Amino acid sequence: MKKTLAILLAAILMLGCMSFASAEAKTYKVGVSIYQFDDNFMTLYRNEILDYFKTLETDEVKYDVTLVDGKNDMAEQTNQVNNFITQKMDVIILNLVQTSSADAVIDNIVAAGIPLVLINREPLAYDENNNAIDEGYEGILNNPQVCYVGADARQSGTYQGEMVAELENHGDINGDGVISYIMIEGDPENPDAQYRTQFSVKALTDAGYKVECLDDQVGNWAQAKGQELVANALSKFDRKIEVVFCNNDAMALGASAAITAAGRKVGEDIYLLGVDALEQAVQMVKDGEMTGTVLNDHIGQSHTAVDVAVKLLNGEEIQNYYWVNYVKVNKAYVDAQ
Ligand code: BGC
Repeated sequence: MKKTLAILLAAILMLGCMSFASAEAKTYKVGVSIYQFDDNFMTLYRNEILDYFKTLETDEVKYDVTLVDGKNDMAEQTNQVNNFITQKMDVIILNLVQTSSADAVIDNIVAAGIPLVLINREPLAYDENNNAIDEGYEGILNNPQVCYVGADARQSGTYQGEMVAELENHGDINGDGVISYIMIEGDPENPDAQYRTQFSVKALTDAGYKVECLDDQVGNWAQAKGQELVANALSKFDRKIEVVFCNNDAMALGASAAITAAGRKVGEDIYLLGVDALEQAVQMVKDGEMTGTVLNDHIGQSHTAVDVAVKLLNGEEIQNYYWVNYVKVNKAYVDAQ
């Protein structure tokens, strides 16, 4: 009797262990490197990556996400990628510090057999005249397990220019027939900065307006730098400046402080444009303190990046490019929300 009981108990225990083992979750290791944590927009983006991965977890599937700061240093990021490879990550999500290093990084990751999702900083190829070639990047197109998720920066630049063209005076405050502007650029290595700089102005000239660039400076996406550059430009060009184009909102927030300090008033004697639609910037558009911004949809982009990473983990086929739309955010848009 005792023996039968012991056998029965052992069998129950074994069964219990087996069912426990089968219920154990599969944990995927995900490596994420962001070009720089100290970036307003990429902070929203990276937090959403973490939050969204959490929402996709089930009893069967878990995501162990390692998130690291590239500190705007390509050597540092290369080390991080090498560590991800040594740690045998199942998938890597990468916001490159330098898009010019894309080939080396992609080759390294592909050689290790790890799928790769590039985000936010689009690697571009250029022709001999330094114009971007639009057909896609070979290093991405040639690799079925590599893709880029982003928004087409040309669209954001175009929207900035259109918001000026749509103003009653088309940005020509002094009525001399020329829109005189200054441009505050993000990191010039970044295609978002290149395209926004180019296409904001192109939207105006395409619509038949004359423009004059009074100043074009690099603010590296940073608020404090934006403030300093716009303060300098205002003291140099004063009332001549009619439009301030900033490649992103962080720099536009800095520009706004400089504009106020110079005793100027957005919407009356100057116009101010940004990109990203940071909460503070949207509020400023609502209050008339900024002429417009462009929604850089960090939710849409982070969710797409994570969804495609999950597809890669599941061995599903993916596209090489995924695009998320920008949205024009001017007063009319904000008031209609
Ligand atoms: C955003 C910037 C950000 C940059 C980082 C851009 O798309 O508009 O705010 O600094 O990405 O690469």
